[in-house]
Amino acid sequence: MSAEYQVNGQIAVITLNNPPVNGLGHATRSAIVDGMKQALHNDAVKAIIITGAGKAFSGGADIKEFNSPKAMAEPTLHTVINVVEGSSKPVIAAIHSVCMGGGLELALGCNYRIASAGAQIALPEVKLGILPGAGGTQRLPRVLGLEMALNMIVSGTAVASEKLAKTALFNEMAEGDLMQAAMAFAEKVADVRPLPRVRDMKVDYPNYEAYLQFSRNTVRAMSGPFPAPLKCVEAVAAAVTKKFDDGIKFERSLFLDLVQTNESKALRHAFFGERAASKLPDVPEDTPVRPIKSVAVIGAGTMGGGIAMNFANAGIPVKILEMKQEALDKGLATIRKNYENTMKKGKLTPEKFEQRVGLITGTLSYDEIGQADIVIEAVFEDMGVKEQVFKKLDEVMKPGAILASNTSTLDVDKIAAFTKRPQDVIGTHFFSPANVMKLLEIVRGKLTAKDVLATVMGLSKKIKKTGVVSGVCDGFIGNRMIEQYSRQAGFLLEEGCTPEQVDKAVEKLGFAMGPFRMGDLAGNDIGWYIRKRRYVEKPQITYSKTADLLCEMGRFGQKTGAGWYDYKPGDRKAYSSSVVNEMIVKHSADLGIERRKISDQEIVERLIYALVNEAAHILEEGIATRASDIDMVYLTGYGFPLHTGGPMFYADTVGLQNVVMSMQKYAKGRHGDAWTPAPLLARLAAEGKTFN
Ligand code: 3HC
Ligand code: NAI
Repeated sequence: MSAEYQVNGQIAVITLNNPPVNGLGHATRSAIVDGMKQALHNDAVKAIIITGAGKAFSGGADIKEFNSPKAMAEPTLHTVINVVEGSSKPVIAAIHSVCMGGGLELALGCNYRIASAGAQIALPEVKLGILPGAGGTQRLPRVLGLEMALNMIVSGTAVASEKLAKTALFNEMAEGDLMQAAMAFAEKVADVRPLPRVRDMKVDYPNYEAYLQFSRNTVRAMSGPFPAPLKCVEAVAAAVTKKFDDGIKFERSLFLDLVQTNESKALRHAFFGERAASKLPDVPEDTPVRPIKSVAVIGAGTMGGGIAMNFANAGIPVKILEMKQEALDKGLATIRKNYENTMKKGKLTPEKFEQRVGLITGTLSYDEIGQADIVIEAVFEDMGVKEQVFKKLDEVMKPGAILASNTSTLDVDKIAAFTKRPQDVIGTHFFSPANVMKLLEIVRGKLTAKDVLATVMGLSKKIKKTGVVSGVCDGFIGNRMIEQYSRQAGFLLEEGCTPEQVDKAVEKLGFAMGPFRMGDLAGNDIGWYIRKRRYVEKPQITYSKTADLLCEMGRFGQKTGAGWYDYKPGDRKAYSSSVVNEMIVKHSADLGIERRKISDQEIVERLIYALVNEAAHILEEGIATRASDIDMVYLTGYGFPLHTGGPMFYADTVGLQNVVMSMQKYAKGRHGDAWTPAPLLARLAAEGKTFN
């Protein structure tokens, strides 16, 4: 039973009860219809209230049912709404907390709506790559007017109920207890006839054609590869131009088209992927967490400053420790400047500015940080320095404090072994700029305690990051994969591409930046440093030498004014560099390679399948818990195009057999050893299965 039916006097109450958000799955829909039937057949009942138990009126259609037979099984949401709207007795929606998507559409099918303040009202379907498919695009403009409804539907943004109090969406705002107010309202309207119905209202908007055309142009320009926003405009347009029933049919056909698109599947995958990432099979949801009321950060450099800002933004005081006053002053000044810039853009009030800056203080003494609940180390990437710092932290930190390292490449288990409390040690790998990037790789050491993991996972939510847990390995999930991608990018240069051609090919797919523009931004010297170490430690791995030659020319990227591309002072635009292109061609000749024309398809396949193959190893080794975690790493930390759902989802969409077939083709070329399919990939492809 996922809705309860009760009669109080002459009022029947149907309470949706499908935790966590009363999603309108098949069982809930059936229970609403059953409740309606009982109420209609009971002569003692004069009016019906629909409400939601727990923390929502309803979060909308059950997204987990999409593309499954249950989604289309009767009673569909349409049927439910028709039953409600066709009721001979008044139906009142009593709305609180969350009223979204199909939930709002259900409410719009009721004769009256009463809401408590603070409820989030939205038609957020566009964020899942679809549009409201149960009458929302036809009914919302009738109660809110064309402009406000179109804005809400195209953006998917939630609006607080009290802001809509004066519109025809709500008949009354409940003061005090919602159910009491709804009961009183129901008594009041029990005998009022005719029953008001939203479908009978008209959308009044003189000159609507000009407005709709303007909306189409704006939305087309803003929606990139996603088809849904423009379809939302078309559906809303039908609320003005078509009869109600024709508008509903039109909306339905657009909805059914959109729900099948890869873009929508990708967005839904990302929605669930984000939520799944915060769960670990062996760390139960009720694992107790350690309270985090204060934070210490070691190192006020590029990362330390950004990391500190995250906590100040969440209202948690941070103490940053440096070795020298000069470095501390510099770090604190950079933080202040970053906040000032945000304030200048109007995104931070002067009060909030003062508050956040005030929450970050500096120190040169370990004595001042010992009582922090968590300390995050962000000093130089050198095991010797990490050793010194962690030994010191072991001495000074209070028992139970969490000791975290922001290392990007070093072994977290070795770092933990510098202390006598390895269970309290964890990796928190932030991405640069740490106050902006959504991704936080949470590195689980062999001995990391479960409550430490649960605490850091909860903390990552609090500072609005997407936390993804990774096991310990070289590069963790993200950088271990990117290495294979960069290797292919280098080989492509030797074989015939220019940096520009490679970048453009992946940027056309929707990457924020191709590998070479990315290298110029991050600094090509970082990769050079890592490769030099690899040449010694893992001489069996082959790399193109072009990147080394580039660094030997002093071209580290934007910071040196030249990298794979040329740059002009004060201009971040990348200009094709004849010097670099000549260097690449000469290098091919030195290697005796006859350069060939390489298609964009080959470029994209080689870069992405290199990621996918390494990811399959990562998954099989248990470094990542699930394929969607890998997708979340790439969507939130590496600018992988959202409409493809991440590398694993992309490979699933292409078909793993097709991926393996392409890899077999590339295995015949140079460096063919890179293309041996990971056992998991080979197995899934052979069985016709997918990663996700
Ligand atoms: N269907 C199924 N499950 C849903 C859901 C939905 N519509 N909305 C949320 N959930 C689940 C989440 O997956 C999560 O599950 P988990 O605990 O197993 O991980 C749980 O509810 C809690 O979600 P959040 O962590 O997001 O909780 P919050 O309290 O932060 O947010 C929310 C609640 C605002 C409702 C947010 O979950 C949300 O925005 N949900 C999506 C709402 C939405 O897009 N609705 C439209 C659905 S499509 C539709 O209605 C089609 C119709 O037009 C035909
Ligand atoms: P950075 O060089 O900008 O800053 C390091 C800071 O640590 C300096 O201010 C230095 O004075 C201070 N420091 C060094 N030894 C110290 C000690 N013993 N005690 C106190 N302070 C000390 O370095 P960055 O880039 O901030 O990197 C820090 C860590 O974050 C490294 O482990 C790095 O691998 C990692 N990282 C860096 C990323 C980046 O893009 N820069 C991304 C993700 C992780």
